[in-house]
Parts: sequence; C-alpha cells; structure tokens
Amino acid sequence: MIDPAALRILDFPDPALRRRADPVPAITDEVRAVAARMIDLMVRAEGIGLAAPQVGVPWRLFVAFVPPSPEDGRAPGDEPETCQAEPEVFINPVLRDFGGELVQFEEGCLSLPDIRGDVRRPDQVTLDALDLAGAPVTRRARGLLSRCWQHEADHLDGVLIIDRMTPMARMKNRSRIRDLERLAAGAR
Ligand code: NI
Repeated sequence: MIDPAALRILDFPDPALRRRADPVPAITDEVRAVAARMIDLMVRAEGIGLAAPQVGVPWRLFVAFVPPSPEDGRAPGDEPETCQAEPEVFINPVLRDFGGELVQFEEGCLSLPDIRGDVRRPDQVTLDALDLAGAPVTRRARGLLSRCWQHEADHLDGVLIIDRMTPMARMKNRSRIRDLERLAAGAR
C-alpha cells in the first residue's frame, strides 16, 4: 500500500521520472487517495498538472487544473476546450487526433525547478481516459489545456520537457540541468 501522505514531488534526475508507467488495473481507494494527494501537491506547488511518476508512483494517471484565466472573464462552461472548472484526474489516458498549428510556447515542470524553455506542440488534442468513478471520458482541448495534457502524458512515458525543448532553450538551460545532476550526485 502506498502512503499518500508520504508522497513528494521528485526532482530531475530521479530515475522514477524516466520509467514508462503501467496502466492502472483497477480504480481502488488507494488510487483515489493517491490522486487526491497529487491534486493537493499540485495546487500547493502552483502547478497546472502533475503525473503519477512525478511522485514516484508508476501509474498511467495524471491530475490537471487549468482554470479560466481571470483576465478574459470566461467561465469554464463557456470554453470547455480551453480550461477546467476544477482539478480533474485522468486515468489510463490516451491522446489522439493531434491537430491545429504547431505552437511554440514556454513550459516549466514541477520536477525541473528553475528550468523553463520553449516546447513545440500541436495546438489541439483529444484525450480518452477514465475518471475516478471508472467512467470513460473523451475531451477535446486546445491552447494551454491541450499543452498541459500533452506535457503530463509525456511524463507517463518518461519524457521530460528537456527532451522536447528547442535547441536554443536546451542551450539556455544547460548549466541548470547540470547543476541538478550534480546536486543529486552529491546527495547520494
Ligand atoms: Ni512536468
């Protein structure tokens, strides 16, 4: 059994971030408790998404919350493809039908402190997953919401933004990446 209270966000280069996660076989109380803890950790860290491998749990599950931006005054119901009304849990997610333009935008990651860089991703995507009740959900997203889902789905395959950054962004973050590797080596 996983103790949800003991879960923490792991930093690069923790090997847990590089493993391919396994499908969640059944949605149990343990899965619900881990998801609740992940939402708590994500909100406290002021992130918009968190994947289970980032807390050392090798499951295909992520949580996400892209709230409506206060500037545009839109409610989530007005624009369901661009934001969420509340934090959501997606279990065994599969992305398909990538579409729209390839957009370059700066991303960060809760597992890569002080690293930010441009990543190119398709603007639109469709997500198939199960919710916490085990019901299938299918959602189309664009903009930041689509980007968030693509970033989190990458974590389930051990892929990080430093793998996807433009060469310029990778160069800009090179010394910081090395610092994180040294820090981890020193802690061992
Ligand atoms: Ni991330």
